[in-house]
Amino acid sequence: MAAPTEVYLDHAATSWPKPPVVLEAIQRYFAEAGGNTGRSGHRRSIAASRAVSLARESLAELLGASSPDDLIFTKNATEGLNLAIYGLVTPGARVVTTSLEHNSVMRPLRHLEQRGRIDIDVVPADGQTGELELERFAKALRGAGLAVATHASNVTGAILPTAALAAAARDAGVPFILDASQSAGHVPLAVEALGASAVAMPGHKGLLGPTGTGLLYIAPGVEIEPLMRGGTGSLSELEVQPDFAPDRYESGTLNGMGIVGLGASADFLRETGIEQIQTQMAALGGRFREGLATIPGVTVFGPFDTARNVGIVSLNVGEIPSATVSRLLDDEWGVMTRAGLHCAPAAHRSLGTAPNGTVRFSWRHATTEADIDAALAAVRSIATRERAEAAEARA
Ligand SMILES: Cc1ncc(COP(=O)(O)O)c(C=O)c1O
Repeated sequence: MAAPTEVYLDHAATSWPKPPVVLEAIQRYFAEAGGNTGRSGHRRSIAASRAVSLARESLAELLGASSPDDLIFTKNATEGLNLAIYGLVTPGARVVTTSLEHNSVMRPLRHLEQRGRIDIDVVPADGQTGELELERFAKALRGAGLAVATHASNVTGAILPTAALAAAARDAGVPFILDASQSAGHVPLAVEALGASAVAMPGHKGLLGPTGTGLLYIAPGVEIEPLMRGGTGSLSELEVQPDFAPDRYESGTLNGMGIVGLGASADFLRETGIEQIQTQMAALGGRFREGLATIPGVTVFGPFDTARNVGIVSLNVGEIPSATVSRLLDDEWGVMTRAGLHCAPAAHRSLGTAPNGTVRFSWRHATTEADIDAALAAVRSIATRERAEAAEARA
């Protein structure tokens, strides 16, 4: 079989291509609706509101939220995480988190810390396995005001013991925010059953929706201070923000086309089945890791066990800077990856890969075996060349 000319393996940044139903739904939205949601009484506004409601319902079904109104539309995971962190934190609180967090969690926390508003307790988690000492986490929760953890490392794909973390937070009476950025759409996620106070995720990665979309699930009864206030289309007579979800958190005109596209991808994921997606992704991961294990000079990070991984492999080739490897992969083989620290410097420090970082390969269920084999051939070629050059330099 001829090698593909373009191999997109950067799905952990954003998935591409989107399922055709996403583009069709966006076109249909502008043809049949296109008005502003919840604002006016005319047919195109009503059609837009209805399309957004249907998308919210489909996403609630996919993600296990019994009320669609518990899902707030955001523009990405970062907005949801900021909304949850700033909205749940109390002055003087100690916030417990892990060493595998993305800067979308760490930067808001460090900002609050720098202003003397919180203390941060970072519980070390193992980037290779996703394991962390649950006892240490539970102990840190005593007297804490908030806990935030990622579901899966965006550097190695390692899945953390999220159910245990959520249960420990619940036992300690501490609000718990889950960052499901790398797991949503890849592994079964039942946000309500998990028992977290809030779960943030992008719409544009594993959920296969357009960029500019994200979601924040807020559990029933959890009160979060909104980040923004403004027009919601509802209760126009009031000069104060409505107090009910989702309007309380969705000020300003919604990203109707993005949301409708995300709703279509949610339908697609429900039809395909997340378990099926997980199985296909695990098979691709097994093939990739087994292939990498046969290439001398390549260091691979993250769990070998595909059941504990969300579809990410990080690696380095000899002493070559990760940015150089990533550029060669793209320039010479059309293999698209992401190099560097992946907005998670602490995770790289714990892997011993800072400041060079790693080359991150990430796939989706529709990635083919030919794509994986093309990536393997490219890595093998770079590693062989590096070993030959190193031997020549020694001679
Ligand atoms: C673990 C994690 N959290 C948060 C984010 C931020 O996602 P977004 O770019 O949608 O804001 C990412 C994106 O790479 C991520 O991997």
